[in-house]
Amino acid sequence: MCGIVGYVGREEALPLILGGLERLEYRGYDSAGVALIEKGKLIVDKKVGKIRELVKSLWGKPYKAKIGIGHTRWATHGAPSEENAHPHTDEKGEFAVVHNGIIENYLTLREELKKEGVSFRSNTDTEVIAHLIAKNYNGDLLEAVLKTVRKLEGAFAFAVITVHEPERIVGVKQGSPLVVGIGKGENFLASDIPAILPYTRNVITLSDGEIADITPEGVNIYDFEGNPVAKEIMIVPWDIISAEKGGFKHFMLKEIYEQPKAVGDTIRGLVSEGDLPFSLKDFRRILMIACGTSYHAGLVGKFWIEKYAGVPTEVVYASEFRYADFPVSDEDLVVGISQSGETIDTKFALNFAKERGAKTLALVNVVGSSIDRESDYSLYTHAGPEIGVAATKTFTAQLTALLFLAVKGSEREEEALRSIMKIPSKLEKTLELSEDLENLALKYMKKKDFLYLGRYLSYPIALEGALKLKEISYIHAEGYPAGEMKHGPIALIDENMPVVVIAPKDRVYEKTLSNIEEVKTRKGIVLTVGYTGDERLKKISDEFIAVPEVEEDLSPFVTVVPLQLLAYHIASKLGLDVDQPRNLAKTVTVE
Ligand code: AGP
Repeated sequence: MCGIVGYVGREEALPLILGGLERLEYRGYDSAGVALIEKGKLIVDKKVGKIRELVKSLWGKPYKAKIGIGHTRWATHGAPSEENAHPHTDEKGEFAVVHNGIIENYLTLREELKKEGVSFRSNTDTEVIAHLIAKNYNGDLLEAVLKTVRKLEGAFAFAVITVHEPERIVGVKQGSPLVVGIGKGENFLASDIPAILPYTRNVITLSDGEIADITPEGVNIYDFEGNPVAKEIMIVPWDIISAEKGGFKHFMLKEIYEQPKAVGDTIRGLVSEGDLPFSLKDFRRILMIACGTSYHAGLVGKFWIEKYAGVPTEVVYASEFRYADFPVSDEDLVVGISQSGETIDTKFALNFAKERGAKTLALVNVVGSSIDRESDYSLYTHAGPEIGVAATKTFTAQLTALLFLAVKGSEREEEALRSIMKIPSKLEKTLELSEDLENLALKYMKKKDFLYLGRYLSYPIALEGALKLKEISYIHAEGYPAGEMKHGPIALIDENMPVVVIAPKDRVYEKTLSNIEEVKTRKGIVLTVGYTGDERLKKISDEFIAVPEVEEDLSPFVTVVPLQLLAYHIASKLGLDVDQPRNLAKTVTVE
């Protein structure tokens, strides 16, 4: 999953492109590069490592180009290296391409081009695009691109420039995200909105099968057959401040603290968006499909939907869904939960379900994202842009939307919505715990393995707490149903194993306490998350993290926050790159 930026206009392109790439770095960062056109020449500069390596190599170079494209890479084909970094060019260095996605038939295309005498410099899939466009070029860049895209299979968003037309960028969108920024006498291309927010809020979101033909004077959109496509310009509501750190050390910490607002904005947004065009009871079964943290949100949502709507609900990993023999039918509602709305596993799984007649509902944080546009219905979280790779505020915002979905139309709707409205103040209170968690982090940051345990609504929170820790601190952590411990994992327990147990006073509280006793008799270190004033729990805990008491349904909102903070402070104290952990990307647009 990579980030693309393009600029053509009257300003110097380089600083604008580098600024855009820095705001896209969360999408992937093992190499970066730019291509500029100046005095009829194509200038390409690319470096392994983060954007700052590229900036250093460009420092002081007198480039004044008014057109360019840039790329930050998360390797899919070809290891991170300078020759595999984008942009890629044709043999004569007259065309440059930056690409996000996978050309699934690139090996065939590569062999065909090699037979025609083309020599390759990299082993990426992207390079074939540059050679094909050069081969198809006959005086019109758009025509060359139209001929090229017909030969490509897979998911691709790419931008191309050529020395033959030094005031034109052509961008293509198929399967991976691409937006156009409309300026005055200048125009932009980017993988994601935050890249261009400082320069314009006027954005066109391209759909699959669309091509943007961009010059300083204007933007024209076509389909892959070359037919003009009318698109509306969206005024982006986010302001760049909300996409900056706001005084926090990391985006992740800022976003943890934004959760009261994210939950409040989401429930207000959902209530104002009015009634849903369907009732859950219209369906035989609800299938929730997602990845990572969004999958954990789905596991919580399952309990609420079955409780309030009484409809059988399954939660399936998107990457598993398409390859099993799920009996999907038009009696199913398939919910795609995805904060980015671009996760390719989730997107493909939803398409798979739709082809089999199911109705699809997108639960996304980005309006106009692929999953949003390709679903029959959409519910939006209003968490604002989440830049930290580790999902936090979008998770609690997803919980809000799922609880809203579950109670909508039930006899307890009014009462439940009133309870949800109280969550932001409960979260504000919970966030006061940060200092305690910082001290706990100091104490346990050197541990090599953690177990997270929970029952019922706390089991998905155990999974989420474990994921947060492992993805930003690189410490092995496993979430487990507390009742499952005796069926094997309890063998892991010893005096070196911190065991985090989520134990709100809910229907499984007594059972959870006995699981804690099982851990203690095997000398495990027990860190518990429970309600303020729960002396019984505190007494049997080595570490007791007190959160405000809430009614049973709402416990996930308050119990997840200390786990987010614990993971954050451990990773921060280990001096790791909290916002851009190794090997990860914010949005995974490859299968
Ligand atoms: C969560 O912290 C991770 N960043 C990752 O598991 C993420 O939740 C997953 O990739 C799904 O992303 P999505 O919500 O944008 O689809």
